[in-house]
Amino acid sequence: MRKPMMAGNWKMNKTINEAVDLARAIREQVNDVDNVDRVVCPPFIDLPMVSSELMGSNIAVGAQNMHWEASGAFTGEISAPMLKNLATYVILGHSERRQFFCESDETVNKKALAALAAGLTPIICVGESLAQNEAGETQAFVSGQVKAALAGFTAEQMADIVIAYEPIWAIGTGKAATAQQANDICGGVVRQSVGELLGDEAAATIRILYGGSTNDKNIREIMEQPDIDGALIGGAALKVESYASMVQQTSEVYAAA
Ligand code: 13P
Repeated sequence: MRKPMMAGNWKMNKTINEAVDLARAIREQVNDVDNVDRVVCPPFIDLPMVSSELMGSNIAVGAQNMHWEASGAFTGEISAPMLKNLATYVILGHSERRQFFCESDETVNKKALAALAAGLTPIICVGESLAQNEAGETQAFVSGQVKAALAGFTAEQMADIVIAYEPIWAIGTGKAATAQQANDICGGVVRQSVGELLGDEAAATIRILYGGSTNDKNIREIMEQPDIDGALIGGAALKVESYASMVQQTSEVYAAA
């Protein structure tokens, strides 16, 4: 069985002190929920303090982006080797990065290869816009994103890759996809595409998260879906009450399964 994951993408929120306080509160509340992987992804500048706050805990730390080169003349960028002792995961190709910072399928692929080579687990984001959704282009577009992101990877490496399906129309809008819709794309498009590219075993191994307006009200039904292995949580991950509740509910769903 794939282990479920509740990953919080804090985006551009939390000063260093606020980040440490939130990390401490999360540790206090969900350190012992062993059947769920718990990951917090604060801004770069918060990583050293959050990572130190969570040292020795069962809560993992992720970054929100990285450059594909190990070092060099790339002003303002951060590389995988720099993240190595601060983070175990890295979010790549979030739709906000694709939309506002010109990230392409090609750069997401280069970053994913570099992350894994450096020992970081990539959380690769895919997802269609509202216009694409309404035009009936979701399947072809998301499948294309998945296959482009995974170019050059082996089937065995899928155990160390996470994909997050985040429809852009559901992010920060309060309008989550229905659990059924989310499962249909996570299974019928994302997992299916991994299978077409790398075989059935790879498809059965890879963890696929849903993201987009998840919260403590809708997480249970989402986590009951067979092809959804977790959530990449935005707003609801910024408060310990909602995040801890989502972790607890996921734990209950999997304990009963
Ligand atoms: P919200 O949960 O705030 O909709 O954000 C989702 C997201 O973009 C996580 O990466």
